[in-house]
Parts: sequence; structure tokens; C-alpha cells
Amino acid sequence: MSCCSEEISQEMWSEVDSVIERHRETPGALITVLREAQDVVGWFPQALIEYIAKGMNIPASDVFGVVSFYSLFSLTPKGRNSIKVCTGTACYVKGAREVIGRISGEYGIAEGETTEDRRFDLEGVRCVGACGLAPAMVINGDVHGDVTADSVLKILEKYS
Ligand code: FES
Repeated sequence: MSCCSEEISQEMWSEVDSVIERHRETPGALITVLREAQDVVGWFPQALIEYIAKGMNIPASDVFGVVSFYSLFSLTPKGRNSIKVCTGTACYVKGAREVIGRISGEYGIAEGETTEDRRFDLEGVRCVGACGLAPAMVINGDVHGDVTADSVLKILEKYS
């Protein structure tokens, strides 16, 4: 099979084909297929949902239902840099909300969204295990501590 979407390259479609091919006959393999397809494409544009549905011979609405149910799967594209602001208790009381508010105001994205240029995506997450550094933020795996609404933009400048 092959399909078309400006979000997905020909190479990605071929990889998705092999994912489907490998699991097509396995009962209950949808989650595995979705996980592997997301590793290839990064998220689920509508065209990909329909393609997988056709390949696995199940209704697209069922595939959409699974993708939207599990937080593991994303219906929006991810940015080149993933910002995860901890909103666990220690970080919350020390101003995590203000940090998120400053990022949202500067880059025009709410939690769960990605900037149009794909530079950043933003997520609020539970305790990242750095409570002593509260409020903490993780960007592409780098932990930043004692982040404030004032310092956060300076930190983000380093990530293009
Ligand atoms: S609550 Fe934020 S790191 Fe633990």
C-alpha cells in the first residue's frame, strides 16, 4: 500500500507498511502497531489513522478511539524540543503554573500543543524526581531547576 500526506514521507510510509505487515495477522496487535507507527512518524495525522485502519482491517473510528484514549499516543505533532514542566506538588507550590503561563504567553502554546514552527512542544507532567530543585523543567531530557517565570525564557533561548 502507499498513501499521501505532506506530514509523512515516502520512506515513513514504507516503514509503516512493514509494521502493519508484521502484525496484520496477530490478534490484539493494534497497540503494538500504533506504538511502532508512532516511533516512525512521531504522531498521528488523520491520514495515518486511516491508513492503519485499512491495513489492519478495522474501522478508522476504532483506531482513533485507541489513539485518543492512551496518553502514550499523540494526535499533535511534537516539536524539535519537548518542554516538560513539572506540576507535581513541590513544583506547583513554588510557581510551576507561572512558568507554564510565561511559556504559553511567549510562544502562543497551551499544554499539549506545539508551536507552528515545531520549535517547542509543551507539557505539564507529574513529579520528575527533582523536587529539591523545584520548580523543575525538563527539556529534551535536560533537567533545569529553580526555574522562574523570569528565567524560563532565557533557558528556552538556547534551544532552537
Ligand atoms: S514535584 Fe516537581 S520534581 Fe518533584
